[in-house]
Amino acid sequence: MPVSKFDVEDPFQYLTSLNSYHESEAVPGTLPQSHSLPQRHDHGLYPERISGTAFTAKRAVNKQTFLYRILPSTAQSPWTQVDSHPLNCDFRTDLQFLPDQFVWPPLKVDRSRTFVDGMVLIGGAGDPTVKNGVAYYNYSCGVDMGKDKAFYDADGDLLIVPQLGVLEVQTEMGMICVRMGEICVIPRGIRFRVSLPSGLSRGHVIEAFSGHFDVPELGAIGTLGLANVRDFEIPKASYYDTEETTEVMSKFGGKIHTAKMKGSAFNAVSWHGTYYPFKYDLGKFMPIGSTLYDHQDPSVFTVLTCPSDKPDCPAVDFLLLGPRWLVMENTFQLPYFHRNTMSEFSSVLSGGFDLATVPKQMYGMSALHNNLSPHGLEAHEVDEAMSKKLKPERVPDDTKAFLVESCYPIGITDWAAKNAIPSNGGENFGNFKRHFPSKI
Ligand SMILES: [Fe+2]
Repeated sequence: MPVSKFDVEDPFQYLTSLNSYHESEAVPGTLPQSHSLPQRHDHGLYPERISGTAFTAKRAVNKQTFLYRILPSTAQSPWTQVDSHPLNCDFRTDLQFLPDQFVWPPLKVDRSRTFVDGMVLIGGAGDPTVKNGVAYYNYSCGVDMGKDKAFYDADGDLLIVPQLGVLEVQTEMGMICVRMGEICVIPRGIRFRVSLPSGLSRGHVIEAFSGHFDVPELGAIGTLGLANVRDFEIPKASYYDTEETTEVMSKFGGKIHTAKMKGSAFNAVSWHGTYYPFKYDLGKFMPIGSTLYDHQDPSVFTVLTCPSDKPDCPAVDFLLLGPRWLVMENTFQLPYFHRNTMSEFSSVLSGGFDLATVPKQMYGMSALHNNLSPHGLEAHEVDEAMSKKLKPERVPDDTKAFLVESCYPIGITDWAAKNAIPSNGGENFGNFKRHFPSKI
């Protein structure tokens, strides 16, 4: 069965199918039937709506959800800006734009940090105040966010990719368990907290300021292939009832703000709508590939895409380079040299990139190949690829690497500049030999 093998069982149940209209109730009878706004809710709940698109957005992309809460989200104090928070960033002034190739080793896991406090900004582009751009983070954490904490990102959707450990994500719509090999999307504005049932965790977070993550159109592929919508899992309603105070952290306009709220942020007893978080097991991805010669474009590995404000220029294409057969004949099977107009941010979660294995100590690394900067294999790898006897080869099952293609040139933070390993060709220009004119 094409699923990932997990060490930890998922304790939660889910609704399935991305983009469907879903409804769920933790207490039977708490979801009003037919209408959404009863004058007085039978169970004493407050209806509240969160929208992810304009009211007038086309039906196919319209995202709105009604939540039925014990107390409304307005039961809160004024916001206070946290001036010194490490996630604060002014994207217009705080990033360096460099054409170099960069590699970052995996983060050392910080046992003292929560998921949100353990996020480190590597870089990005654009401006969250105009809903345009992207940001890349690594995270490492070893402490649960308490039941009295909640976080939401008003600036963008968060795509969370754990490389180590397990995340138990409590959201307003219910609980999600995300293990290495799975990804999770928390759309902008939805409140969540993360606990760590197996201790330490590490991974990556991709934040998209524009639009929402969705499966790509399939074009000539047809109706089946890549990430199939039925394999996406959506939480079922569950709630936490308390009269204690909760601290809500908001990322808004690139700055962290906090407020106190009465009761829990996770007090929705039922909900219905189209705006919700979801998870996906990358082991269920159905790859498409060349079956005779040459490479197809890597866009066929797209799991999720998020549009920018420019037509046909995704802010994020999240690609999985996973297990599959390589069967092309008389073809340079490995990645060929290229300079792409899309920037590329990548990581190996396990295994390697296709047939090229990566040492275990580098699992969780990050790499950046910026817009139109040349990159490809090293000279000795090219020589081996050109001389090897070709036969069908299987990219192993433990191979999980991802690639984020973005239309934006990516600027990096001071932290990223200090901690990077530059990986250009070096002073010998990569040691490439001339073969032209050929003696053959
Ligand atoms: Fe590339």
